Amino acid sequence: MSYPQTARWYTALLTCAMLLSSYAGAADKLAHVTILATGGTIAGSGATSTTTVGYTAATVGVDSLIAAVPELAKVADVKGEQVFQIASENMSNEHWLKLAKRVNTLLADPAVDGIVITHGTDTLEETAYFLDLTVKSHKPVVLVGAMRPGTALSADGPINLYNAVLLAASKEAIGKGVLVAMNDQIHAARDVTKTNTSTPDSFKTPELGMLGYIQGNKPYFYHVSARKHTADTEFDVSKLDALPQVDIVYGYANVSPVALNALVAAGAKGIIHAGVGDGSLATPVKAGLVAARKQGVLIVRSSRVGQGIVARNGEANDDELDFVASDTLNPQKARILLMLALTRTSDSKQIQRMFYTY
Ligand code: SIN
Repeated sequence: MSYPQTARWYTALLTCAMLLSSYAGAADKLAHVTILATGGTIAGSGATSTTTVGYTAATVGVDSLIAAVPELAKVADVKGEQVFQIASENMSNEHWLKLAKRVNTLLADPAVDGIVITHGTDTLEETAYFLDLTVKSHKPVVLVGAMRPGTALSADGPINLYNAVLLAASKEAIGKGVLVAMNDQIHAARDVTKTNTSTPDSFKTPELGMLGYIQGNKPYFYHVSARKHTADTEFDVSKLDALPQVDIVYGYANVSPVALNALVAAGAKGIIHAGVGDGSLATPVKAGLVAARKQGVLIVRSSRVGQGIVARNGEANDDELDFVASDTLNPQKARILLMLALTRTSDSKQIQRMFYTY
């Protein structure tokens, strides 16, 4: 072989070696993301491709979810774990404790960079807020679901899962609290809510605003949640096997105190009152709440309206009644904060402080 030929071969070999090592380097640099699967529509299947309601949730396992999106391998080194296989209306306090402990164990491992949790959309916002208050890490935790089963023409699960993994693998998501990735948008766990029974754009953060978008394989953040979360909260569930019973009582015209009284008799340690307007209390229910408070039950005034602050000492004299105002938390999220608050204290002033902190 002539000298120029040898030089060409040598250059080609060197280029191949460099390409191979840069490919291996890139693979090494991929973030390690664990997907914890819990069920829901993202793991659901329907009878036909046009079945978008009336399908069965929680039928497909985590390995199939991952296999359906081979593009995941380009954005993260992904592992899957099936923690539950349920429709999310069956999510319970016990499921949450188990999930929070698993997330905390995984995130304490230096080999795990982020977590994605696949979840039914019906209670996704609640699980997200529970984890926002109990995960002890600044590493990314992203919840994701789908409004359409994987068998539907318009299945949104694959792109939502891809975006969630991309987000959990990103540096941008570190320290932002527990996030929800749905419909190309990023939301904060505290403020996001499901707003439509069936359309793919159901998850919104009205008024307070979503945090950002995922577009072109990149997360873009524009806001952060101002409330304390994750490693900066005072809640620790590591040694808990149960949470105090807290229930929600709904306000409406012609309301009676029957439901409230039954819940208190059944042992509720706290009641969230989802009042009309600014958390107003109808006279017969107010009497029941005052009696319950005298028995030691913690009362939080929330609102069924969905937006705005429930003003302390606004529609009720909370100072006098020793009630707590929910700030902007919706009733289902106020229930979560009150349960966790009751694991720390039964002092209503401390609990009010927590409602203005988290
Ligand atoms: C569920 O919440 O498990 C069913 C509904 C859904 O995931 O959209």
